[in-house]
Parts: sequence; structure tokens; C-alpha cells
Amino acid sequence: MTEQIAILDFGSQYTQVIARRIRECNVYSVILPFNMPARDIERLAPRGIILSGGPASVYDRNAPQPDPRLFTLNIPVLGICYGIQLVAHYLGGKVERSDKREYGKGTLRVTDSFSPLFANLPETLQVWNSHGDRITKLPRGFKAVAVTENSRYAAIEHRSRRMFGLQFHPEVVHTPRGKEIIANFVHNICGCGKNWTMRSYIEEAVEQIRAAVGNERVILGLSGGVDSSVAAALIHKAIGDQLTCIFVNNGVLRGREAEVVRDVFGRHFKIRLHYENASSLFLKRLKGVTDPERKRKIIGRTFIEVFDKAARRVGKAKFLAQGTLYPDVIESVPIAGNPAAMIKSHHNVGGLPKRMKFQLLEPLKRLFKDEVRELGLELGLPREIVLRQPFPGPGLAVRILGEVTPQRLTILRNADSIVVEEMKNSGWYYRIWQSFAVLLPVRSVGVMGDERTYEYTIAIRAVESQDGMTADWVKLPYDLLERVANRIINEVKGVNRCVFDITSKPPGTIEWE
Ligand code: XMP
Repeated sequence: MTEQIAILDFGSQYTQVIARRIRECNVYSVILPFNMPARDIERLAPRGIILSGGPASVYDRNAPQPDPRLFTLNIPVLGICYGIQLVAHYLGGKVERSDKREYGKGTLRVTDSFSPLFANLPETLQVWNSHGDRITKLPRGFKAVAVTENSRYAAIEHRSRRMFGLQFHPEVVHTPRGKEIIANFVHNICGCGKNWTMRSYIEEAVEQIRAAVGNERVILGLSGGVDSSVAAALIHKAIGDQLTCIFVNNGVLRGREAEVVRDVFGRHFKIRLHYENASSLFLKRLKGVTDPERKRKIIGRTFIEVFDKAARRVGKAKFLAQGTLYPDVIESVPIAGNPAAMIKSHHNVGGLPKRMKFQLLEPLKRLFKDEVRELGLELGLPREIVLRQPFPGPGLAVRILGEVTPQRLTILRNADSIVVEEMKNSGWYYRIWQSFAVLLPVRSVGVMGDERTYEYTIAIRAVESQDGMTADWVKLPYDLLERVANRIINEVKGVNRCVFDITSKPPGTIEWE
């Protein structure tokens, strides 16, 4: 079994970040519900257990509580933030309630240079605090190994029992050397090797796919996005022509999208690719529709219909492959005060209905997005596909405000190609979450040469984000914006004005519809 670290999730917004940091140390990690019974945890045989942070106080009536027997499993434990309070509370120490949370930067001073958590680290470190309660008495056998300005117990340990606690967050970027603390825990304390790499994952996954599929056939809906593309390449490596990909042109794709997909997958990878051009059907159904949610529903429903028919045409398949990722399958337990559970799956539209009688094949469901990208490069997919920005399922339909018409689509495609091209040339494209053009079908007056014009406006949107849930507009250099705007107005017929969107999310959304 792969060596792994188990993270019990007490509702911290950083739980997934902890999991990613561990994987960056080449150690596999899993996120488990906070209340998983100790014997079930034991069955997974993790090399170490991390108790995440969380918004609660250990004394709250509804505070999430772990199974106390986990402290008797003889597996190393590291409590972070709320997790350190749990360690103190369950092992006989005292935690004091405090009504105000302490946020922000702090300076940590390591007081025990032999502490294995801080091996090979300097005596003082910058750390990020975010905590409410305070430990006022340590459990028996524990001692403080680091302090901050405001806390005598910033890091604690019971070395022989291999129990540790950190009051601050080692997983966030504001704790610059935090990853080394995590590495010390997983390698030195838990004894994990560096076995989790995308290269070894490929071998393992190929075996598993072959074993699961046998001689049956698999179909996969290829969207051209990172996840379905990497899933296709991986499954193809495992079972070759037993895989057929279906690519549906829904008429609201970006310029060259269909060509790129046919080129990369059909010609280069020689994957069996069924190209279904349903543009006219989609556009017919979108005619006259202006409401954003109706557009989404129409596109979602039509996609299922078209895919269903295409799937039948390509022959009988037992499996449907999907590029589901780990964040989609983590079991989230609703915890009071934790919005994460609610935010999830907001955009899980366009999924295929259960009535399609397929068995699912989801070879990426243990991976985070950054791992999927690494895997894609390892499989030989071009950067253009692997590093591409997210693109919404309903495509350009939610970037044309109001009715979607062929003429508006042409305008937006041309403008968007210029945005993408200039972003790539300047190196900005791969640095940010998304950058694209939006068509505002309001006409404004302009002059071009001696002529008065009366044409559409293009909004340029560029945002930074970790996961699309919150976002900040990107302060692109003026000369880049100037070049993009000039080119759009000069080269795209039907546009005489460009604006730059400076709205963050919240309160705005990334897409305009
Ligand atoms: P918003 O506009 O809600 O977008 O801030 C957040 C992220 O989700 C993408 N998005 C969608 N993806 N179907 C999708 O598959 C949709 O209907 C949809 N709407 C928005 C958006 O591009 C951004 O990355």
C-alpha cells in the first residue's frame, strides 16, 4: 500500500493546502472526515495523522470532536491550530477560551534546538497565526519547543509519544519555511520516503486501468480542458484503441478550439476521436435566449442529448471515463461556521445523468489540479493544453451578454484570440487564473478616420485566483492593455471601444453571466 499521511478535516479553509504541501514532499496524503472512527483510520495504516485547523472552539457545544482513541494508535500526530487545542484538551492540558481571534504575522523563536519538527531550520522564523483559544496548561509529558510574541506554547511536543502541535499555520505561504516543518514531520518523524511522484503514479494507474477495464470499451467526453485531456492521455496509454473520445462542438467554443483538439488528440496522439459538430443545433436552441441560467440549462441539456447519441453511434462501451479530481470527491462533513461545504459543486453543471448505464472510470480522482498538470506534461501533452486557463462549460455563451448570435460569436472569438495571443506573448497568460474578452452588446459612438461609428464594446477581464471561489483583478501593465485594446479596435470589425474590468470576486463574479 502507498505510504500515506491522513489529515482529519475540522473545517479549516486550509485543509486541502495541507494535503498539497505533503504531496509536494512526494508523500501521498488523504483528507478524512474529522469523526472517522479510530479503527477505520488504523485500517488505512497512515504513517502519520494531522489534525487540521477549524473555526470552532474545543468548548463549543457543537465543536467537531475526533475519536479520542486515535491518540492511542501509536501513530505520530501533528495538530495544527484547532488541532493543537485538541491535542492539549484530549491529553489532559487546559485550553482557555478567548473571544477574539488572533490573525497575522508573528515571529517564532525555537527554544529547543533538538526538536525534530524544526530540524535544519533557523532559530527564528516568520509564521502566520490565526487562532482563537489559547493553551494555558500543557498535558503531562509535553513541553513547549517554540514561542511567539504572544504565545508561550506556539509549538509543543511529546517526543517519545510522537505527538506534536503548532499554534500557527505551517501550510500557508505566509509561513515561508513552513513546508520544511511539514517535511520534517512526514519524513523524519513519520518515516515516509519520497514515493509519490507522477512518474510512479502513471505506472500504478496504467495497471489499475487495465485491470479494471479488461477487454471492455471506454468512452470519454473530451472538452479540451486540462482534466479531460489528461484523463484521455492516461487512459489511452493504458488501453490504446479500447478508448474512444467524443468531442462535441457546441458552437460556443473559442476560435481554433476544435482544431487544436483534433490536432493534438486525433493526429498527434492517434486517439480514436469522434468529432461531433452540433453547433447549429446549439445555436438554434439558444436563439432569442437572453437569461444566463436558461442559456446554461439549454447548453447542459443539449450536450447530454448530443453526447448520448454520439456514444451510441461509436459502439457499445461499458465504461464512461471522467476527469474527476480529488477536491470533487473529498467527503466534506458540514461543520458549523464552515462555508466550504456549501461553496463546493456550485458549477458542477453539465455532468452526465446517472441513467446512462455506464460504469465510471475516474483515474484522476486522487489528484489535485497541480498534480494533474504535472501528470499531463509527464504524459507528453503540449503545454498549450496542460497549462491552459479554465474555460466554462457554457463557453462563449456566458461571455456574450444577452442573445448569442453567429455575428456576435465571430466578434467575440476574434477579440478573445487577440487577448489570449497578447497575454501569451507577454508571458502573463500562464501566470494568472483567467484572461478573456467579454462582448457587451451596447453600442457607443466613436470616430474612425472621418467616419462616425456606432458599435459594440469589448470588456477585457483578467483575474488571479486559487480555485475560482474568490478572485482579484490583475494589474496588467498599461502598455499590454494598450496593445490589446488597439489591436481589438483596429482588427475586430464591429467593436469601437474596449474597457478593462476592475471588479474582484466577491462582489463580482469572474464571468459576466
Ligand atoms: P464565476 O463566474 O462564478 O466563475 O466567478 C468561477 C469559475 O467557474 C467558471 N464557470 C463555469 N464553469 N460551467 C462551468 O463549467 C459554468 O456554468 C460556469 N460558470 C463559471 C469560471 O470560468 C470561473 O473559472
